[in-house]
Amino acid sequence: MTTTKLFILGATGYIGGEVLHKFLLQYPDAHVIALVRTQAKADLLKQAINGNLETVIGDLNSLDVIEENVAKADIVINAASNNHLPSLEAIKTSLIAKKTRTLFIQTSGAGVIADSTDPTKQNPNKVYSDVKDIDEINSLPDSQPHRLADKLVQTFKESSKVVETAIISPPTIFGVSNGFDHKTSVQIPLLAKAITKVGYSFTVYKGDTYWSHVHISDLGDLYVLIIEKFLKQQDFPSGYKGYYFAAGGTPHSWKDVSVAVSKLLVEKKLISSDKIEQLNPDQVQKVFGLPALFWGSNAKTDADLGKQIGWEPKKSSDKEFWEDIEIEIDYLKKTGYFEGELKSH
Ligand SMILES: NC(=O)c1ccc[n+]([C@@H]2O[C@H](COP(=O)([O-])OP(=O)(O)OC[C@H]3O[C@@H](n4cnc5c(N)ncnc54)[C@H](OP(=O)(O)O)[C@@H]3O)[C@@H](O)[C@H]2O)c1
Repeated sequence: MTTTKLFILGATGYIGGEVLHKFLLQYPDAHVIALVRTQAKADLLKQAINGNLETVIGDLNSLDVIEENVAKADIVINAASNNHLPSLEAIKTSLIAKKTRTLFIQTSGAGVIADSTDPTKQNPNKVYSDVKDIDEINSLPDSQPHRLADKLVQTFKESSKVVETAIISPPTIFGVSNGFDHKTSVQIPLLAKAITKVGYSFTVYKGDTYWSHVHISDLGDLYVLIIEKFLKQQDFPSGYKGYYFAAGGTPHSWKDVSVAVSKLLVEKKLISSDKIEQLNPDQVQKVFGLPALFWGSNAKTDADLGKQIGWEPKKSSDKEFWEDIEIEIDYLKKTGYFEGELKSH
């Protein structure tokens, strides 16, 4: 049997790290090539992974490096950016020249279906299913976050007889990752950090907007399940039909998250006021430095496609979501997150 080769972009990241961790548990003999930006990151990965790991130094603009390594791989995972088009063009060029079966998994994000921060343009009852609403998802306007990247990835399969693709589009991700460097997510950690800097919390208008959520471990399972299907040559939706939301439990409101985070930060003496100010999007940007869309829109998703192929979220229940907020804040506090600059994305 030949050794499976995986090329991963974003291996040191929150998502990429969890995915690589789970992949290696299942395929310990695989050969992994990781694109990293610095020698320090290469050393960090090599120290953490005692296996068949090769690192290549470059970034998303290192198009030759990307093309060369896509050409060598059976599986390519992009967990570095859901917006960077030149690297996706390079991946496409290399993929469509291939003669052997190859799987490409793109990490997108449920921001693609986020409605608006403007209450008059919101559609709070809409829940997007990646099965029932796939045509609508595939017709979203280019102005939606990540949409241009999603559209480009969906052309890969039609340009090749040997390429399969899956776009995995997570909503709010929670939980501490088993990754090798970045261990925490974006929306709740960034919110907590911004609150500690300003001294009190906020909601975008009344905060009655909802996002779905998924635990990082369940998200990792979905990548590995699709990889498993590909390697076993089992059918799974790919190309235009291969759009996978990942979500469990019921969507959370950003007001409830804001209240929970603020209460915990007061209890842990990271702030002294439990005031929650109702702000408009411009004020959120100005006072908290945050783009309001990710805390003031609706993005509700049903992961029907993943469930159809056998994905079962195990840690994404409402109970785990709400309990995890304290676990994450404790982890962030312990690791000095509240002391440095905001994690930028
Ligand atoms: N976390 C979430 O809640 C969430 C939800 C939905 C979608 N997403 C999307 O999923 C992707 C990964 O998110 P994440 O939370 O895992 O982010 P992350 O922890 O910041 O990880 C990003 C990874 O990509 C690498 N990277 C970033 N820019 C790069 C560049 N220009 N060239 C080469 N490598 C680069 C980083 O390397 P370094 O170690 O050098 O920084 C890191 O390994 C992003 O596109 C994000 O928008 C995230």
